Amino acid sequence: SQPLRLGIAGLGTVGVGVVKIVRRQAAMLEARTGRSVQIVAVSARDASKDRGVGLGGYAWETDPVALAKRDDIDVFVELMGGHEGAAKDATEAALATGKDVVTANKALLAHHGQALAEQAEAAGRVIRFEAAVAGGIPVIKSLTEGLAGNEITRVMGVMNGTCNYILTRMQDAGLPYDDVFEEANQLGYLEADPTLDVGGIDAGHKLSLLSSIAFGAKVNFDGVELEGIQRISIEDIDQAASMGFKIKLLGVAQLSGRGLEQRMSPCLVPADSPLGQLKGGTNMVVIEGDAVEQIVLRGPGAGEGPTASAVMGDICDLARGFRVATFGQPAETLKDIEAASSNSP
Ligand code: NAP
Ligand code: HSE
Repeated sequence: SQPLRLGIAGLGTVGVGVVKIVRRQAAMLEARTGRSVQIVAVSARDASKDRGVGLGGYAWETDPVALAKRDDIDVFVELMGGHEGAAKDATEAALATGKDVVTANKALLAHHGQALAEQAEAAGRVIRFEAAVAGGIPVIKSLTEGLAGNEITRVMGVMNGTCNYILTRMQDAGLPYDDVFEEANQLGYLEADPTLDVGGIDAGHKLSLLSSIAFGAKVNFDGVELEGIQRISIEDIDQAASMGFKIKLLGVAQLSGRGLEQRMSPCLVPADSPLGQLKGGTNMVVIEGDAVEQIVLRGPGAGEGPTASAVMGDICDLARGFRVATFGQPAETLKDIEAASSNSP
């Protein structure tokens, strides 16, 4: 059978992780999907940078849009980040020229997911984004496939590893927010714009994507009520602990009579509960459905290996010919569900 030919834009943490897996596991990937998975071309800003992985044999494109338009690739793998500019332009170009897209970019889909899904559908293509939510945890596959027979009643969880690391360190080491924030910075955990993490925005992006799939709704990031962790003090942490609770940046999405409630905010959770016990950069997503009742998914929410693992799951699905619609159902059937404010009557 024909090989599945990839064009990879972005050779940072995640892109390099994907290249390593494709190179290291070529025989296994072919055995599992029935096709060889080949990288044809790559793109990043700096062609001279040593990325610690062999790139010989791959064509180099400085312009990711040119990469997306190449007629010798089947799948455009977008691992650059950002919700405007190169990532959006190249994704649109890929769909316009008949490629499927795999991306880890939650910001892009939270802002433009509906339009991109409609463009993909009109072109008979799909966009896959398992890595965009909860890193290595296959939460999107769980919702769109394993739980497809359920009416989902609630999705909630911890979806930003950096915030969970900061809150856990404040709790365990008794350190103030500013010190732990600096520690996270030194460890390279923070996004280039740290407000995305500590302001709850990154986690809000992820929650809006899960809501779309869970409730058959158009992505509505603007409808997510957001509160970050910047104002959490060591006194708040101590007071919570004295009552048997921990503070977690928790996302909750559910339908009520008032509409779709999506909230990402610091919450008290029982210290001895699975959420309360969640340490460091780990993520946890709880899904409730009418038939399954409740499932809990837990795992690494970021990093080279876990995130590349999720990207590869999508690539393997495309190699096998699994083509679930971008948000689990045709984009034109997604409902415009009004956002419910938790403060409204
Ligand atoms: P990163 O390490 O900053 O790498 C970004 C890559 O994109 C770099 O190779 C950069 O090129 C390239 N790039 C950026 N702008 C470009 C442009 N205009 N043209 C061509 N190349 C461009 O980012 P990352 O951590 O791998 O994240 C990639 C995506 O995965 C993001 O959407 C992120 O939100 C998502 N994600 C990341 C993680 C994680 O753990 N890191 C987890 C889940 C999802 P240079 O190297 O030459 O500068
Ligand atoms: N900044 C994100 C986090 C990266 O800390 O969870 C993974 O999406």
